[in-house]
Amino acid sequence: MSQVHVTRRYRFCAAHRLHTDQLSAEENWAAFGKCNNPNGHGHNYVVLVTVKSGSGQNVCNLDRLDQMVHEKVVERFDHLDLNCDPAFAELTTTGENLAKVIWDILKPVLPSDCLQKIGVIETRDNYFEYGSAA
Ligand code: NI
Repeated sequence: MSQVHVTRRYRFCAAHRLHTDQLSAEENWAAFGKCNNPNGHGHNYVVLVTVKSGSGQNVCNLDRLDQMVHEKVVERFDHLDLNCDPAFAELTTTGENLAKVIWDILKPVLPSDCLQKIGVIETRDNYFEYGSAA
């Protein structure tokens, strides 16, 4: 059965450093290049949240969605170092992992099966997606 979706756009600025303690300094540099710079760097992240829309079951109220995303995601990460967030204690702060972390934060606080996809735009040329299989 076809279903209408709506995507809302949110923004936050955050610092990060691509680094894993499971690799040596040389291996980290080889894997992540200048993104492994010890002083870190920042991004103007754009987060695209896609939910079920229209009428029917498990539809998400957009005011409620905005409130949840601001409260649980934007306020949590804006102007902070992602590497210091507990969600990344065991995870590298890649765009892939950020999309998955945001999914895991929002999934339990939205109506069941409402959340369809998380998109993260990290740079002009890097876009990451995580979501339920089509
Ligand atoms: Ni980066």
